[in-house]
Amino acid sequence: MKNIVILISGGGSNMAAIVRCAQREGWRKTYGAQVAAVISNRPDAGGLALARDHMIATDVVDHKRFESREAFDTELANVIDRRQPTLVVLAGFMRILTPGFVGRYQGRLINIHPSLLPAFPGLHTHQRAIDAGCKFAGATVHQVTSELDYGPILEQAVVPIVPGDTAGALAARVLTQEHLIYPRAIAALLPSLNG
Ligand code: GAR
Repeated sequence: MKNIVILISGGGSNMAAIVRCAQREGWRKTYGAQVAAVISNRPDAGGLALARDHMIATDVVDHKRFESREAFDTELANVIDRRQPTLVVLAGFMRILTPGFVGRYQGRLINIHPSLLPAFPGLHTHQRAIDAGCKFAGATVHQVTSELDYGPILEQAVVPIVPGDTAGALAARVLTQEHLIYPRAIAALLPSLNG
């Protein structure tokens, strides 16, 4: 079985979209794949309850309990590896990862970022796109490399920025597209990964 492990920090709407798509499209049968666990670095992440609603195992690795990024990443990798992952999916996971962690999962670690990378890596992407006068914004699914919000692009979606747009309205428009492209990118990747 190809185990997908999803890392979250917050509401987990992308995680839920992936879980729903896996169920709807029958990823077990089609790809021999399942969402094996959802892991959060925040004990209060709303997505944990969503995952449990879908009968998916959850773990918490609270970053505040660790003195260094390295110590946190080491424990995170231990918890991930217990689930024997084929693919590690960052879905609103708001931690910068160490090169050691990224190297460990190279080629099977992916992220979604709410901008049209390579434009606007980092935080506050929607406001920055509005402030820059962009006519379009969007989201990118990409392989993770040790450079933040960089790496080979797997999928992108484009949405318009409309006159008078706010960061919140734009974020909601982009998020709707994220929920479509993230499951699609994973489904496209699964056949090339060994379980
Ligand atoms: C999503 O918009 C995702 O692209 C973004 O956080 C949100 C998480 O929402 N990720 C990043 O900004 C990572 N740099 P969700 O928890 O509802 O999926």
